[in-house]
Amino acid sequence: MPIIIHEKTGTFHLTNDSVSYIFRIMENEQLENLYYGKKIHDREDFSHLHEEEMRPQMSISVPEPSLLSMHYTRQEYPSYGTGDYRSPAVSVLQENGSRVVNFTYDSHEVFAGKKPLPGLPATYVEEDSEAETLEVHLSDKLTGTELVLSYTVFADLPAIARHARFRQTGSESVVLEKAMSASVEFLDMNYELVQLSGAWARERYVHVRKLDMGFQGIQGLAGTAGGAEQNPFIALKRPETTEFSGEVYGMSLVYSGNFLANVEVSTFDMTRAMLGVSPENFAWKLETGESFTTPEAVLVYSDAGLNGMSRAFHRLYGRRLARGKWRDEPRPILLNNWEGTYFDFTEEKLLAMAREAKEAGIELFVLDDGWFGARNDDWAGLGDWYCNLEKIPSGIGGLSRKIEEIGLKFGLWFELEMVNPDSDLFRAHPDWAIHVPGRFRSHARHQYVLDYSRPEVVDYIYEMVAKILAESKISYIKWDMNRYMTEPYSVGLPADRQGEMMHRYILGVYSLYERLTTAFPEILFESCASGGARFDPGMLYYAPQAWCSDDTDASERVKIQYGTTFVYPVVMMGSHVSAVPNHQLFRTTPLKTRGAVASFGTFGYELVLGKMKPEELAVVKDQVAFMKKYRRLIQIDGTFIRLLSPFEHNEAGWIVVSEDKREALGLYFQRLNKVNGSWVRFKLAGLDPDRLYTVSWEVCGERKVYEAYGDELMSVGIPVNRADLSAEGGDFAALLYEIKG
Ligand code: DGJ
Repeated sequence: MPIIIHEKTGTFHLTNDSVSYIFRIMENEQLENLYYGKKIHDREDFSHLHEEEMRPQMSISVPEPSLLSMHYTRQEYPSYGTGDYRSPAVSVLQENGSRVVNFTYDSHEVFAGKKPLPGLPATYVEEDSEAETLEVHLSDKLTGTELVLSYTVFADLPAIARHARFRQTGSESVVLEKAMSASVEFLDMNYELVQLSGAWARERYVHVRKLDMGFQGIQGLAGTAGGAEQNPFIALKRPETTEFSGEVYGMSLVYSGNFLANVEVSTFDMTRAMLGVSPENFAWKLETGESFTTPEAVLVYSDAGLNGMSRAFHRLYGRRLARGKWRDEPRPILLNNWEGTYFDFTEEKLLAMAREAKEAGIELFVLDDGWFGARNDDWAGLGDWYCNLEKIPSGIGGLSRKIEEIGLKFGLWFELEMVNPDSDLFRAHPDWAIHVPGRFRSHARHQYVLDYSRPEVVDYIYEMVAKILAESKISYIKWDMNRYMTEPYSVGLPADRQGEMMHRYILGVYSLYERLTTAFPEILFESCASGGARFDPGMLYYAPQAWCSDDTDASERVKIQYGTTFVYPVVMMGSHVSAVPNHQLFRTTPLKTRGAVASFGTFGYELVLGKMKPEELAVVKDQVAFMKKYRRLIQIDGTFIRLLSPFEHNEAGWIVVSEDKREALGLYFQRLNKVNGSWVRFKLAGLDPDRLYTVSWEVCGERKVYEAYGDELMSVGIPVNRADLSAEGGDFAALLYEIKG
């Protein structure tokens, strides 16, 4: 059993084949974290791991002669004010103005499996045997505030899912000003902090920095997890840890709103990492009988390098966070009209694009922004979710049927959380847009954000969308979100609950997603936010794929997709081949490279096929056929392994290997070509060392073949011929290796 409890010593040991997470009840009845890391033998008593020594300025929080001090104790869910001078996980404002609390142990329970989190996305199990959950009940006796710390240990993964729940039972109300999902203590500070940071068109770049004494961390305050700037994920790795070896601890938050990931190192080298809803602009009031559940944090430990950590996240998020019909299904190859037409389209033009797509073997036609209300540019129409019949005389119902007659499925774009000031919706309900009465409303892309903390707003949007979905043949929805939040305030909430607004907004978004995905379970949802500004595990629970970035330049995409795979499975990454010169970077990359990079994702096109030359269309047909052949391996069945980082090299590489290791696909990419360069060997990973493999790849229409055992391919590598790279375009060339054994 993954959860071992030693009642006599009050010790909890969460363990499986790979990890141990140990904490105990201290003499002051609070919880102390003793160890987190590689699995260790169980013992009745681990209290010797508690470190205690009289030090100057140490405040002792129990009667003498005990030396128990929170100052130097590694706490499970620390609070401020009783001798711990580091950042707390929880802050509770009481009616008398005090924030001092003392959450002490009451009881615990263990159960097989895992329970859902009310109204929140979370990992889940299908069989109770997949995980075991420990819930420790604590309370602050003076205020009557109850706290449940929940820990789920997955049987076959080095992963622990945590959250905290609060319930007020005392007669006075309290306000939660900070309530983190998880706080973890590490024994030393010899770590590097890994984060996925960036901006629009360069989302989720890998950044690494050495820990130092004091604060370090990331925060997202845009209202959309971290927006394009920060992803709700951090990892602590040892300096010597590589993609393939060494220790790393990943922490990922299953949440799409404002978040904080904070690592604080004390001057005694103690490292405390915590993850949860950002306390900025957050204050949640609990009247008697009310409760609050934090989002879920997922902790992954790996001693097999960064790839080991990613493998665990991919398995967990791909199979036990994503839900619904599409979770285990290869994704349809699509053509999206956005970069092909922007707002400038007619029904005839769309139908012509769909016919061309059908001819190339594409399966789904997606109509992007511009089909509704008075939407001829980005100044008007958001909120008016009815078809613009001047552009599309057949309406969405008619167009969707015509597309299906062509032999394609039909998908549609929405931006359901937004409203343009120039829209019927805003004219009818100006107070539905988020604003502070009497203050200027900041705008972005000429739009405001609807107040999803108000159930009547969510209900209205649901009815509008459900009507279109019921009347049309829609197989796919792209749910976009193109601006960050400002003036966080809800006219629907009283003054003492305004600190709840940002979290209530996200709960409103989740509730709409839940209603739509329940009512229309066949529809494939793709989330999007100005490209990849909302690529978080919370969204993945509702929409099993997300648009990775508006930057579709193949070379930039290598970086964006490489960084994204630190946490997210390949099947979640929306990836399209677009036209050249690239619309974001104005760079020209070879069509084959664009196809090869996009293959490691959901795969689709975002251009006008009718404008391509016959020889290019032949390449497109080959790419579509290739993707149909390999998408189950790439997206569903295979294990993805990063091989060469574009953040460290002129080259990049990765591989997807089947479970039986008899089939694999490797991508080798180079940014700039080299003249008279040194020898290149592309080292693979994940293969069977004893199996003889045939490696084949195509260069200018000619197939080349190479044979070697798995051990040689992994220890020596595939000799990459520079002439092949030059023949495939030189700069930004890619070679796609099909490996069979
Ligand atoms: C931003 C998205 O990232 C694009 O793909 C496109 O859908 C536009 N919005 C449409 O406005």
